[in-house]
Amino acid sequence: MNALELRNKYLNFFERHGHKVIPSAPLIPENDPSVLFNTAGMQPLVPYLLGQKHPEGTRLTDYQKCVRTVDIDEVGDNRHLTYFEMLGNWSLGDYFKEESITMSFEFLTKELEIPVDKLSVTCFGGNETIGKDEESASYWEKAGIPKERIYFLKDNWWIAGETGPCGSDTEIFYDTGKPKCSPECNPDCDCGKYVEIWNNVFMEFFKHEDGSITPLSQKNVDTGLGLERVNMLLQGKETPYDTEIFIDVMKKLEELEKQDDIYSRRVVAEHLRSSMMIICDGGRPSNLDRGYVLRRLIRRMIRHMNKLQIDLNELSNLIDLDIDVLKEMYPDLAKNREQIKQVLLEEKDKFVKTLAHGEREFEKEVNKLKTQGKDKIEGKVVFRLYDTYGFPPEVTGDLAKENNMTIDMEGFKALFKEHQEKSRAGSEQKFKGGLASTGEMETKYHTATHLLNAALKQVLGSHVHQRGSNITSERLRFDFSHDAKMTDEEKKATEDLINKWIEEAIPVEHFEMKKDEAISQGAEAMFIEKYGDIVSVYKIGDVSLELCGGPHVSNTSELGHFKIKKEESSSSGVRRIKAILE
Ligand code: SER
Repeated sequence: MNALELRNKYLNFFERHGHKVIPSAPLIPENDPSVLFNTAGMQPLVPYLLGQKHPEGTRLTDYQKCVRTVDIDEVGDNRHLTYFEMLGNWSLGDYFKEESITMSFEFLTKELEIPVDKLSVTCFGGNETIGKDEESASYWEKAGIPKERIYFLKDNWWIAGETGPCGSDTEIFYDTGKPKCSPECNPDCDCGKYVEIWNNVFMEFFKHEDGSITPLSQKNVDTGLGLERVNMLLQGKETPYDTEIFIDVMKKLEELEKQDDIYSRRVVAEHLRSSMMIICDGGRPSNLDRGYVLRRLIRRMIRHMNKLQIDLNELSNLIDLDIDVLKEMYPDLAKNREQIKQVLLEEKDKFVKTLAHGEREFEKEVNKLKTQGKDKIEGKVVFRLYDTYGFPPEVTGDLAKENNMTIDMEGFKALFKEHQEKSRAGSEQKFKGGLASTGEMETKYHTATHLLNAALKQVLGSHVHQRGSNITSERLRFDFSHDAKMTDEEKKATEDLINKWIEEAIPVEHFEMKKDEAISQGAEAMFIEKYGDIVSVYKIGDVSLELCGGPHVSNTSELGHFKIKKEESSSSGVRRIKAILE
């Protein structure tokens, strides 16, 4: 079996058990700027975990593309990946612990034919407020996991970030057959004997900013099975790099390199896949936030290609090869092949210009430190290499490691933050200036934008979310997530709906409320981090509820007649509408 077959097996299994298959959300979250990338399958489904009705029902299954970069500098070892895929099944107030556990057990032992004695599980061990999860343990036992392989752990609790939907979880581990590292060795130990393959989260609570936890209106299940990992285990491979997902690129690198280094080969193969996936979903390298994550991935990859002494002109062929390997799993890669190449090659060219200079500068610094008998590179130097030569700290960190030195990451971070705050202050000033000049027409377009967002959701579906907006006194421009060109009928239906709302003369109301509360009421939120704990919300009857700083008209009747002038593609998976009020 390969990864694609595993994915299909999973989706089919849950489809047979009454789940609707939904598509993966893009890597770049649509309405949640609090995270840079989708880091878990549950992220795009948060509104539905909170009680909003999902158009596909209460049982869903999907594969979700995820990027996690906390461990970026661990990549190169035998297990860390920045990009991975999570297979998930969801109960939105439908089944709970028993059915979830029974289905997981059946899938693993019947569909994947994993022998029961390879499996161990962990359940929530309880804390001051919430008891030990004996219930889940009893279902595992009933299914066939012997008591001695059911463990209770205090940290079997899952939440994405600091606040939001959360709950206890039960985790499933695969025994690789390696000997126990000690008599106490259990799934909590990371010696490599036990590998976590699946996490079933029982999401029944919401954690608020003050740390309190309240029950959600419904009990949900969110499960995540790591595709690359299970694929590797089923194939009896030691690392994901030995599976079909990476093997061709790894072999090609070995052929091209003049310097043998498996660590660098893995970094190149992993970062290439990860950055292609991000670019494919609309990411572009820059010095800010998600753009900077992408830049770090690409630059670190280039540096390791250099280290392997691979001609950088080979990058274009490597991209082609990797797209060919992955296109069956991700057809969008092939569709966006030229764009992906262009972005990667441009970024490579930019970095190559300064790479040699930066490395020379680094060497000078190292020699100086060596004569002083020091082995830590100051944050100030790491920052200068970043600022002047475009060296992400991981690149400097890699260079340091190769010279048996370390870098002062904290010192770098402090300087980096200072630098970002300065540039943010600049853009906030621009933002204020923009608002101050908001005139009557801009205000109308602002309200029309909320109506358009709401109308598109009704006409095209709830996958529509705002991806960008720009307003002048002449027109509005609205970018939103949607995959296909809108038909004439859809455009007309959207206009008609908005004009109906205008005719209905709906009052536009302004509220201030707690951010958590607004989110749990299902408010649309595009730039949530711009606002503090108390947010400003605009409500247009039953039509729209959005977090927004305003200003808005006080009644939709003030808007006149709404007309779409143009509908076009903006970037992959994003459409753009230009519209006017007549
Ligand atoms: N949200 C859980 C995780 O990411 C299960 O999908 O592990």
